[in-house]
Amino acid sequence: MIKNSKEIEKMRLAGTLASKVLVMIEEHVKPGVTTQQLNDICHEYIVNELDCVPAPLNYRGFPKSICTSINHQVCHGIPNERILKKKDIVNIDVTVIKDGYHGDTSRMFFVGKPSIQAKRLVDLTYEALKIGINTVKPGATVGDIGNNIQEFAEKNHFSVVREYCGHGIGKDFHEEPQILHYGNKGEGIELKEGMTFTIEPMINFGKREVKLLPDNWTVVTKDHSLSAQWEHTILVTKEGYEVLTIRPGEYI
Ligand code: MF3
Ligand code: CO
Ligand code: CO
Repeated sequence: MIKNSKEIEKMRLAGTLASKVLVMIEEHVKPGVTTQQLNDICHEYIVNELDCVPAPLNYRGFPKSICTSINHQVCHGIPNERILKKKDIVNIDVTVIKDGYHGDTSRMFFVGKPSIQAKRLVDLTYEALKIGINTVKPGATVGDIGNNIQEFAEKNHFSVVREYCGHGIGKDFHEEPQILHYGNKGEGIELKEGMTFTIEPMINFGKREVKLLPDNWTVVTKDHSLSAQWEHTILVTKEGYEVLTIRPGEYI
């Protein structure tokens, strides 16, 4: 669970490269593009420009190189021929492997101008991620992270998805510990310097319940309300945290 300085250097590189994919893809996310096209652009960039491996491809049978989750889709959407249209919101989730180590990050994009509700949900979910990140320091617990995210979301009358969570990350895509986005202060394991994990809250406009589509990957809200997610890979430092997947100009 604790990474040494050599491993941390590799995690830094993997995180930086994952963040570059989200920067690169931004200009392509517009009305008329299919999620398959976005997948292909990311795949080609990850493999040929970054010299990385797209971790989702063939991971437990996942068939594509990124996840694209639109509107009421919560996570793990599979890129396909669906055409993005104005007012859609879409999460693109990128995980790259560089020199054996993973960097995992996702963000929301607006396709055209969003509805007021969609913008509120997306902006608040990003705030929730930042609140989670700002909780990270040695001695804090995973329950502290979850509690801060949950309190913030629910105070704003949104709900937090419980079935999926953040995760330790390193040589493996998903390692211990689980980082729940809800919970009680002081509960769960204590954070220690050198741990690397993701925080990736999924927040719904309506009720928290989700269901799995018959493709066995795509998760959607049961009530078909909009859902948003943002994700970063974090390192616990002596002072607090370092965001390994931060984008240029992003301030946490
Ligand atoms: N990137 C996702 C996460 O944040 C996991 C996707 S698994 C896949 O943990 F197989 F759907 F790609
Ligand atoms: Co993740
Ligand atoms: Co991810």
